[in-house]
Amino acid sequence: MKKIKNVCCIGAGYVGGPTMAVLADKCPHLEIHVVDINKTRIKAWNDNDLSKLPIFEPGLEKIIKKRRNHNLFFSSEVKKNIRKAEMIFISVNTPTKTKGIGAGFASDLRWIESCARQIAEYAEGYTIIVEKSTLPVRTAEKIKSILNSSLKANNSQNINAQFSVLSNPEFLAEGTAINDLINPDRILIGGDDDDAIKLLEDIYSNWIEKDKILKTNIWSSELSKLIANAFLAQRISSINSVSALCEKTGANVLEVSKAIGMDKRIGEKFLNAGPGFGGSCFKKDILNLIYISEFYGLKEVADYWKSVLDINYWQQNRISSLIIEKLFGTIAGKKISIFGFAFKSNTNDTRESPAINICKNFLNEGCELLIYDPKVTEQEIVSILGSNNLNLDTNKRNWHKLDTIIEAVTNADAIVVLTEWEEFKNINWDIIYSLMRKPAWIFDTRNICNKEEIEKTDINLWQVGISK
Ligand code: UDX
Ligand code: ADP
Repeated sequence: MKKIKNVCCIGAGYVGGPTMAVLADKCPHLEIHVVDINKTRIKAWNDNDLSKLPIFEPGLEKIIKKRRNHNLFFSSEVKKNIRKAEMIFISVNTPTKTKGIGAGFASDLRWIESCARQIAEYAEGYTIIVEKSTLPVRTAEKIKSILNSSLKANNSQNINAQFSVLSNPEFLAEGTAINDLINPDRILIGGDDDDAIKLLEDIYSNWIEKDKILKTNIWSSELSKLIANAFLAQRISSINSVSALCEKTGANVLEVSKAIGMDKRIGEKFLNAGPGFGGSCFKKDILNLIYISEFYGLKEVADYWKSVLDINYWQQNRISSLIIEKLFGTIAGKKISIFGFAFKSNTNDTRESPAINICKNFLNEGCELLIYDPKVTEQEIVSILGSNNLNLDTNKRNWHKLDTIIEAVTNADAIVVLTEWEEFKNINWDIIYSLMRKPAWIFDTRNICNKEEIEKTDINLWQVGISK
């Protein structure tokens, strides 16, 4: 059995980029080529100015600086690098389908399929395909059948190619990706080709203890990824449902989550109430789970998981409505300052961010938004909220991206904290209060602002899950 030397990763996104960076760092003997059809993204990965990397992730710049152009390369040379590789990771996007069968639920596998076709066309010799993208169960089977049918067609250049497909789901969370990759709770490898499994295991063994490497059949591996995310999301929906109950009853959600989290059977993680979960995985994976359950006639199972998503939308809309209500039932013509647009802190990713729905709810009511986020670009917000979103009275764009907190609060009626950025924890609220229109409000949907300091001013404070 030959050793792996050349690795190719298709897809230079939030998964492929950091994963390959850590792999290159931990395995200096490997030569890793990350390829992407998006040339702008590749250009940014190769930028000498490391602050221009296409994704923001703490610790990533340091590793890129150390490994880039040594044993880690970013390019758009898909064909050449597929041909050279003995192991190919697939890390392309799998968003929810917007049309056709399963629209709104099933994953759109067109990017996976196009990868499989490229691999079938260009790969040479024994090649191990490792699926990293979050995928609905039985995708590996589809990849296998595309590869095999192309081999049978016998008209491609790769007469000697032989494929083995493994599932190796990624459990990294954005914002802590580098640490999650270096110190994972477990590595899951699903497959039935012992040689291929051994070769992938050997790579991880360079920095991960053997007993953390779990081997399963391919379907268990794919399904485990969906279920892990569904369980995490379910905890958030559970605590968010409790947050509303706390606000009504006089209980405090921080006290409740601490009390229940100390029960070892429950555990303390993922019990922070907030504006609802976002990110590229939770919603998509639960939608997949609902789709699969319905496909197999398990309506009750589908309904059960659907309720986790329903609570998530409900929490976002509940928060939007109560803010409007507290601001005398109308926000038309008012300025609302939005603290944080990313779906969580320490990332520039906005996919499924609760800020999107909440900001749209506000804009529909005719207010002006002053948005501050330390990492999300204006261009990104334009692609979500639109650039010609005009206030009918003033004919001016009704949202603005500001570079500082001070600019974002000037003349604002309210501040809505949506992302738990560290810098929101230590704000001089005296100064902020002096700049705002009175009565001034803070709506802290993450419970991170310094309550004692705020209470020294005359700002009205609302916190999720805490009754006043
Ligand atoms: C998630 C999984 O954690 C990861 O294992 C998987 O590989 C991909 O999906 P990610 O989406 O990057 O990772 O971030 P995560 O930290 O899980 O947060 C998801 C959302 O839940 C965020 O919007 C976050 O703010 C929210 N959240 C998380 C809460 O509202 N409360 C919590 O207690 C924890
Ligand atoms: P994730 O969070 O799963 O990493 P991203 O959208 O950030 O998702 O990244 C996926 C990347 O995969 C994108 O940069 C996209 O251009 C790339 N991609 C999609 N299809 C292909 C393909 N057939 N060949 C190469 N790159 C691809």
